[in-house]
Parts: sequence; structure tokens; C-alpha cells
Amino acid sequence: MSSQAAAIATELLQAPTGIDRAVALLQAGELVAVPTETVYGLAADASNPAAVAKIFTAKGRPANHPLIVHLGHISQLNEWAQDIPPTALLLAQAFWPGPLTLLLNKAPQVSAVVTGGKQTIGLRLPAHPLLLQILQQSGLAVAAPSANPYKKLSPTSAEQVLAGLNGKIAAILDGGDCQVGLESTIVDLTGEQIQVLRAGPISAAELEAVLGVPVTTPQSHNVAVPGNVKAHYQPGKPLQMFSRAELLRQLPAADDIILLCHSDDVANSYRGITLRLSPEKTAYARALYRTLFQADSLAGRQIWLEQPPQEPAWADVNDRLARACHQ
Ligand code: TXA
Ligand code: MG
Repeated sequence: MSSQAAAIATELLQAPTGIDRAVALLQAGELVAVPTETVYGLAADASNPAAVAKIFTAKGRPANHPLIVHLGHISQLNEWAQDIPPTALLLAQAFWPGPLTLLLNKAPQVSAVVTGGKQTIGLRLPAHPLLLQILQQSGLAVAAPSANPYKKLSPTSAEQVLAGLNGKIAAILDGGDCQVGLESTIVDLTGEQIQVLRAGPISAAELEAVLGVPVTTPQSHNVAVPGNVKAHYQPGKPLQMFSRAELLRQLPAADDIILLCHSDDVANSYRGITLRLSPEKTAYARALYRTLFQADSLAGRQIWLEQPPQEPAWADVNDRLARACHQ
């Protein structure tokens, strides 16, 4: 017998009828890709270690990379975490449902399969109405990483999930395009210092405004966040980032590349395939992964990307792109 798992016929579910089917599959210990406001997640019943283990197989993800657990109600915090500091409640009240993951000490009964053997757990209450309905109807909490094969681009549509995981998961619930488009901010509340471990849609400044204390952002924390590897979120084609000035110099002679840019003069200096991104941060973030997927599917040797603004509000975009470009 082959060591590869046999292909599963992945069901494509539509709301509202697909909700009941998604709940039934999750309760039966199967994997269902679900829409969230950030990116699609690959969900399993977080209280069922055998179900959670299937996530690692389907993604090809190392077992020590912990998963975020998604709650349907704030009252579930106590079932998954312990020693919950007042700062956690402040942030949950301010930003949930929404793209913020709180890192807390895990409750004793939480399986090590979920936390990759760590004593901490990432928890978030997502804002997508379909996922909230699944969580509230089932009473489950679901462990869900982004629904992409390990190291690849995170999907922001059902079609992108299928492109990576068709035949490896029981079902996918189509919730249309994700509104936010980049993964949640991860904030670590387990230490003396409150730290942002992954930049995201909620900025350090927004966290500080609610907490009233400074929040730090460590530069390198691959141990603290095992999934936080340098090469990640990668399209299939080589991706290179250039400043606007470099592009204006090089593009007139360029050939056989796919250009992704947000400046008019950059777009105007290339005659080949050009995909436009918004100069406005929220719209840029929403379209980024979709545009990279699109670039991957077009004919062209490599992708050239105009460097986005180097400003604090763009920290999440710049974090993902640094990994996407890493050779
Ligand atoms: O927006 C999001 O957060 C999406 C949607 C589906 O909710 N989820 C997501 O999950 O991005 P994932 O697994 O692709 O990325 C989660 C990151 C990983 O780098 C993981 O190592 C880190 O969070 N993480 C999760 N739990 C952790 C823990 N207990 N300690 C340290 N890092 C943790
Ligand atoms: Mg991911």
C-alpha cells in the first residue's frame, strides 16, 4: 500500500444549506475549510486530537507548529486558557469578533497536538458570519491554520483553497472573498512585556491605545512562533521586490515578467503584463494574495513587485512580502 493518503472527494458547500453539512463533518472529526474575515482556515474540532492531526497531514505542516483555536463566544476563553490576564479581556472586548489572536497559557486539558507541544495557546473569535454560525450552532471550538499547503500563499477565496487542497480535505464552505485578506495580528500576553509576534490588520498602535501601555514587536522570534519561518507565503514563480525608482529605471528594458505595482508611473513604464494594487493600505491588503495567485497563473518567468510604503500602518503587508520574496 502507498504511504500517501487516498484522495478524498472534496465537497464544495454553499451557505445556507452547507452550514449544516459543515457542522456535521466537523462533529464527525473531518476537515472543513471555512471562510474567515482574514483568510480561509482549515478547520477541525479542536477538542478531537485525531481530527486536529489530520490538519498537519493535509497541509504538510510540521507537527511543532501550533494552531490557532477559533471560538464562537468569549465565554469559551476559560475552557482553552488559564491565568487569563485583564489585558486579554480588554483586547477581546475591543477587537473581537475580529482579526486579533491572543496568546495565553493553555488550559491543562488542551491537547498538545493543537499547541504543537507548547504550554501556550492562540485564541481568536473570528468576524465572518458563516464561521460564527458554524461555531455557535455546533458549540465547537475549531483549530484552524490558513487553508494552504505548507509555505504557500494563504487563500482568500474558495477556488484558491481547492487549488491547494482538493482531494485532501472533506469539504470547503464557500463564503466568497475574504474582506481583510491578511492573517490576524498575534499578540503574546504571557510575558512581562506585551509583544506583537505577527503583525496584522490590528496595528501595535491600536493595541496600545486600548491597553494604555507600550507593545513591543520583536524582530526575530522563530522560536516563539515556530511557524514564523523566513520563507513563507510564497507563490510558485520567483518573486522579487524593487523600489519605485529601480522599477522606473529597469522596466523599459524588461521582458517576460509580470509586474505588480501600485504607482501609475511604474505601471506606465512597462508594456507587458501588469497587475495593479491599490495605493490605499486596506484595499491593497485585501487584494494582495489574490493578485499573487493571479500572477502565478499567468505566463511569465517571474514576478516583479513594487515595494509598498515603508510605514508602520503597512507592517503586516511588508512582513508577508519579506517572507514571500525570501529565496
Ligand atoms: O487570520 C488568521 O490568523 C488565520 C485564520 C484562519 O484565522 N490563521 C492563521 O493560522 O494564520 P496559521 O496557523 O497559518 O498561522 C498561525 C501562526 C503560526 O505561525 C503559528 O506558529 C503561530 O501562529 N502560533 C499559533 N499558536 C501559537 C502558540 N501557542 N505559540 C506561538 N505561536 C503560535
Ligand atoms: Mg498560515
